[in-house]
Amino acid sequence: MVQDCSAILKRFYFLERELVKMQAGWMPGTEHLESKFWLGESLWKDSLVAKDLRERVLELRYPDSRVVVGDDQPFIDFVLKFQKAPNALAFLMGLTRILKPLIKNHFTKYLELADQLDDAPTIRILKYGMADLNEQIASSEKVITEFAAIYPEYAEIADSWVQLLKKTVDTSKDIFFEAEGFRIPVLHLSSPSFEISRYGKRDRSFAQALFPWPDSLEPARGAGCGSELQIRQAVHHINEVWAAEMAASVIFDLTEDAPSDFLIDAARWCYDEIRHCRMGYTRLLTWGFRKEEIPLGSFSYEAGADVDPVTRLGIIYYFESTYIHTKSERTKTFAKCGDRMSSHDMDFDWADELIHTYYGTRWLKYFLEKKGDIRTPNQVRQESEKCIATIRQRATDKQREECEGGYRRMLNRGRELGFVDNSERVSAVTNGDSHNFRG
Ligand SMILES: [Fe+2]
Ligand SMILES: [Fe+2]
Repeated sequence: MVQDCSAILKRFYFLERELVKMQAGWMPGTEHLESKFWLGESLWKDSLVAKDLRERVLELRYPDSRVVVGDDQPFIDFVLKFQKAPNALAFLMGLTRILKPLIKNHFTKYLELADQLDDAPTIRILKYGMADLNEQIASSEKVITEFAAIYPEYAEIADSWVQLLKKTVDTSKDIFFEAEGFRIPVLHLSSPSFEISRYGKRDRSFAQALFPWPDSLEPARGAGCGSELQIRQAVHHINEVWAAEMAASVIFDLTEDAPSDFLIDAARWCYDEIRHCRMGYTRLLTWGFRKEEIPLGSFSYEAGADVDPVTRLGIIYYFESTYIHTKSERTKTFAKCGDRMSSHDMDFDWADELIHTYYGTRWLKYFLEKKGDIRTPNQVRQESEKCIATIRQRATDKQREECEGGYRRMLNRGRELGFVDNSERVSAVTNGDSHNFRG
């Protein structure tokens, strides 16, 4: 009956919502870059399933417009235990080998029991949710294997964690269908409570530099031109991983204080930044750069380490609104130079950034009003800019040298790969494939 279905779907909604929050919570503290990519995409897709489930619950309960946790708290408490993994690899393994399969089995069971006609809107939501879960569970194995190969010291403890979860949680059981929370397995964990990392952990298979390019440290140095601008843009794109982390951190910090569509906007924001990061990474690999040559920094994320969540939201908004004009300019510049792929990336990036500035204004305004803070989003933006100025001022000689060294190595390597110093027209060297421009 409708009441039974809406009760189960409400539980599914809160489970999916917790999935988004816990994946966001782990993103900054996850070292392995491909795992960060995986988390960003996964949390975005989960947020869409959560959104659809919530709307379906409201449809079934109309005219009641409340969707509150109520008696479902024990289920949420159970799911939150998965967050307390001993390291990022363990979290990923527990999530994709136990928790997501458990949720998938519940979706399957619901689909088996549901009336395909009367409850057809739910059928569609869960079928799409199942497709996402199947894809996430399958794709995670390659990511986990690579993570364990780069961080072998995490593997043993991660395996023990998964064994502990397996012993306690039978993924074939229908625990989320229980009318009460009393049959939920109790996970006895020795791990301390989970805390999000305020430092953006970086993958050791890349070059490390807190400030990844000279203009990150000193904006007055400018973005350069010609082939330097091409390489710089791709390096800046991959370094937008910090923006994904900042969006993830605001999901983690602010979701409970916001209406339901905040999670949807912030999850999309997070995934878009992951896509921008992949754009740069793909360009660099296609051109022939190796992982260990590519500098990965984290200064923009760490600028928010000691401030409140709204100022952190202001930091990402500061970058979005300050540099948005460069996206359309560079779309044209790269097209003029014959680098059609970079131009194409910048064009799609620009489309995303226009939405992001809207997200920034909308949610800063919301949280300021809620707190009774009379500042405008632009005033917060100015406060946030000070955080960036502070971390730049504190740069040590070693950090400056890491930045300059990485920059010089990238440009030297670029010359080896056929990039030429020409500010008018970058060498349009192709290998016969019009989609594979060197320049
Ligand atoms: Fe971006
Ligand atoms: Fe953005």
